[in-house]
Amino acid sequence: MRSKIPTVISSAPITFKRLLPPDDPAGTREILAGLGLRERSSGAPARGPAGASPGAPDAGRTRPYVVLNMVSTLDGRATLQGRSGPLSDPADRALFHGLRSVVDAVMAGAGTVRAERYGPIVPDPDTRRLRSEQGLRERPLACVVSASLAFPPDLPLLADPDSQVAILTSSRESLPETAAQVEYVRAGREDGSLALDMALAELHDRLHVRTLLCEGGPHLNTELLSAGLVDELFLSISPLLAGGDPADGGPTLRILAGTDLQPPARLELISALERDSRLFLRYRVLDRG
Ligand SMILES: NC(=O)c1ccc[n+]([C@@H]2O[C@H](COP(=O)([O-])OP(=O)(O)OC[C@H]3O[C@@H](n4cnc5c(N)ncnc54)[C@H](OP(=O)(O)O)[C@@H]3O)[C@@H](O)[C@H]2O)c1
Repeated sequence: MRSKIPTVISSAPITFKRLLPPDDPAGTREILAGLGLRERSSGAPARGPAGASPGAPDAGRTRPYVVLNMVSTLDGRATLQGRSGPLSDPADRALFHGLRSVVDAVMAGAGTVRAERYGPIVPDPDTRRLRSEQGLRERPLACVVSASLAFPPDLPLLADPDSQVAILTSSRESLPETAAQVEYVRAGREDGSLALDMALAELHDRLHVRTLLCEGGPHLNTELLSAGLVDELFLSISPLLAGGDPADGGPTLRILAGTDLQPPARLELISALERDSRLFLRYRVLDRG
């Protein structure tokens, strides 16, 4: 069985084989999950996502609905030559940009923003127009988590005057002047560390972020999961085996890095799609332990 990506997330629809039925008893939802996210977003109609009870999806929530999107090789590598690009393919990029197109905000750790040289989140004008028509802001808020606030001065995201950027930090410092519109979510604990739960609550309450797509990296992922701040994981498994111990001596990153999750998080499969031997898995995070 095949289903199409909704046009809102790709101007050139790509077909996926469906391996499992969608988690949708009524069978009325598109398998490609971005729709469920759009329905939770700030400008969208108040309908529940697949599997949720109907009603205002954000009712009672104090933080955004957080979705993690990651790609890995079959043997678990999250990077090749220090980047995720070599693990991707056109279908993966369609999902990557599709998810960006339906959320209120996109978040990444500063390590990822620096390594991947982040630029404008939704560069395609047609996608921005579609977002606007659906009541979303044209450009998702770009949220960057950082303690150091150390970014290259020519980082494309910060050099773009149309980008709106929120820096999540416990630092009292600010960036040097940037072309991008930058604001700060300063949520420090007494020990000086960043309180991610408070930062996400502020994104929700002050900046009206209802759906937050987190694009990693592995260290930020671990912190979010440890704090119980992730609702779903989209994992694209690339049909590659890469081995370990990179020749350049860099770290062998997996989709989580840093400290162990104790106990491990438990997840439930929502859907599985396949295209060109790549698996697109969507999981709901249940709990830890
Ligand atoms: N396979 C994939 O899907 C995928 C996805 C994303 C990234 N990646 C790859 O992963 C690598 C980067 O990942 P990474 O794990 O090293 O970096 P990361 O998690 O993206 O970023 C780590 C940085 O984020 C900031 N940060 C994270 N948690 C924080 C907290 N609680 N408080 C304050 N600041 C916090 C710090 O920034 P400061 O250093 O500025 O203080 C920290 O150094 C890159 O090679 C990238 O290509 C792969």
